[in-house]
Amino acid sequence: TTELRILGIETSCDETAAAVVENGRIILGQTIASQIDIHTKFGGVVPEMASRVHVETITQVVEQTLVESGITWSDLDGIAVTCGPGLLGALLVGVSAAKGYALATGLPLIPVHHIAGHVAAALIDNAVDLPFLALVVSGGHTEILSVDEQFVFTRLGGTKDDAAGEAYDKVARMVGLAYPGGPKVDEMAAKGNPVAFSFPRSLIDEDNYDFSFSGLKTSVLNEINQRRQKGDEVPVADLCASFQQAVVEVLVEKAARAMKQTGSNQLVVAGGVAANQGLRKALQERAKQDSFKVHFPPLSLCTDNAAMIAAAGTKALERGLTHDLSLDAYATLSL
Ligand code: KG4
Ligand code: ZN
Repeated sequence: TTELRILGIETSCDETAAAVVENGRIILGQTIASQIDIHTKFGGVVPEMASRVHVETITQVVEQTLVESGITWSDLDGIAVTCGPGLLGALLVGVSAAKGYALATGLPLIPVHHIAGHVAAALIDNAVDLPFLALVVSGGHTEILSVDEQFVFTRLGGTKDDAAGEAYDKVARMVGLAYPGGPKVDEMAAKGNPVAFSFPRSLIDEDNYDFSFSGLKTSVLNEINQRRQKGDEVPVADLCASFQQAVVEVLVEKAARAMKQTGSNQLVVAGGVAANQGLRKALQERAKQDSFKVHFPPLSLCTDNAAMIAAAGTKALERGLTHDLSLDAYATLSL
């Protein structure tokens, strides 16, 4: 047939995921085995444990995905796998599995950068056409990227320290909300006063696309410590709301500035923090004001999944970017 069907495999963090995507746009089937229950007990992802659970789960996840997609190996045109960045041991499980499947089937092996995957979530269901600007906000990344017609990336800027999601998770832990704290801080923020505290908006006035969230995180911690020392109650909702306001303001300001300076008219927001209600609302308002389009993939495609890896893999295969069976995994990897 003329359909291009790619199996995507994603194991960079704490989800073991597989998906089959047709023509880079249509999800035929997907499976996501989340390890959240396991890691929640430890307040964060335990890398060794993540690797082990990926090993135990990966073949089942792949097999279930093929069944759900109603296809067999011979209906596929390639195997795309996240080769970085992420937890090295976790990545190695997906890469090794993909290599095994590629060897057994003779299908091309397509390495995918995890961030390219997050951005490719916007291509699914024809939601957005290339080119566009992307704001990637996840647990590991905060980047502004220019994405051209061929799905080739130019990095405009990014965080110098903590990623936005990482800051959310750390603040959540400070105020006693369970891992992964981002969504819980988001919920609390809706009940609090966003101007109760004036936290720093680092780098907001600098003429670049860089971010820094570590000073903000420290400011939140200082407010908490002061109250705990005096035996005062910690105003969790107000802290969350004011923290979120600071994060959102910086993200919106820099993204809007990038839109203006590059002349782009479409912004794609990707990564787990794209699920944030405060960010969604603020960016939608700003987009209206500045007359650009903003697209948020559905929540299920914002957090880690393999459909986005298969979609990015399709773009890579179109450009002939396959790899032989010596493919390695990389904890850090530039776009
Ligand atoms: O993209 P993702 O699933 O994994 C990475 O590649 O990092 O992103 C997970 C991150 C976590 O830090 C999580 O707390 C954050 O996304 N997150 C949120 C929300 N939902 C998920 N942060 C803020 N508000 C949310 N609603
Ligand atoms: Zn991710």
